[in-house]
Amino acid sequence: MKLEGNTILVTGGSSGIGLSLARALVQRGNTVIVTGRDQAKLDRAKKEEPKLVTIKSDVSVLSDIDALHARVTREHPALDVLINNAGIMRTINVHKELTAEQFTNEVDVNLKGPMWMVHRFLPHLKNQASAAIVNVSSGLAFVPLPTCPVYCATKAGLHSFSQSLRVQLKNTKVQVFELAPPATETELLADTMTAEDRKGVTVMPTEQLVAATIKGLANDELEIRPGQANALRMMSRLAPGFILAQLSKPVDRMLAQ
Ligand SMILES: NC(=O)c1ccc[n+]([C@@H]2O[C@H](COP(=O)([O-])OP(=O)(O)OC[C@H]3O[C@@H](n4cnc5c(N)ncnc54)[C@H](OP(=O)(O)O)[C@@H]3O)[C@@H](O)[C@H]2O)c1
Repeated sequence: MKLEGNTILVTGGSSGIGLSLARALVQRGNTVIVTGRDQAKLDRAKKEEPKLVTIKSDVSVLSDIDALHARVTREHPALDVLINNAGIMRTINVHKELTAEQFTNEVDVNLKGPMWMVHRFLPHLKNQASAAIVNVSSGLAFVPLPTCPVYCATKAGLHSFSQSLRVQLKNTKVQVFELAPPATETELLADTMTAEDRKGVTVMPTEQLVAATIKGLANDELEIRPGQANALRMMSRLAPGFILAQLSKPVDRMLAQ
């Protein structure tokens, strides 16, 4: 896809991968709109990159998506790229007490969120001369990290949804990309991986992930799997039992707590 002159909506663009990608896309001459739930984080992002358009919007709230759609299509009718990046990741010990809502919170944000965004914005994207949807999944879409069971299920689901969407949109102008990042240095990772969990894991700097993403998009690489994300996918095919056992090691530490 072309990487300049687009109008791009990035969900969850107020920190981490979304913000770094948004900044790189602004530098390439795109109009970039970012969303998030926390206005203070959006304000900080705007201070860092004044050209960003920031809009408070939660991908797990249907009325927020409707309001976002109305505003973006009115104020930025050239919108031609949707990046479904917003996501949360939690360690869940299934032996501990959680409400049903707490248990499945990631499904609302990481899986229903992108699906609702696609449902709402697809008619607009289909009317553009060319358009793209980029779904941000994870290397953990290919093999789960069992300490984060719901997160990994949402990312496997988003991978599957992206494959189906790509097939159904094959005769349209809308390209469907999937970005499956490896462990990347962001707030999300800091909240879920202890120093012990990081042993044997190469954590990618955000700038490196963004560079690989830009290159992949420019080369029309529909499934972008930088670094260890690609290794996880390969291992899930070549030695699925071995790689699952490797990723299962932190479970004993979690159960002992
Ligand atoms: N970092 C990694 O190692 C890694 C690896 C693989 C995949 N990923 C994926 O990459 C994406 C970005 O993650 P990150 O690491 O950059 O995390 P991050 O720094 O925590 O950023 C997450 C962004 O999403 C926003 N967000 C969270 N819930 C939202 C909601 N319901 N509606 C709208 N925005 C929401 C956050 O802002 P607010 O909190 O203000 O809403 C923030 O802007 C996620 O989908 C994640 O699963 C990350």
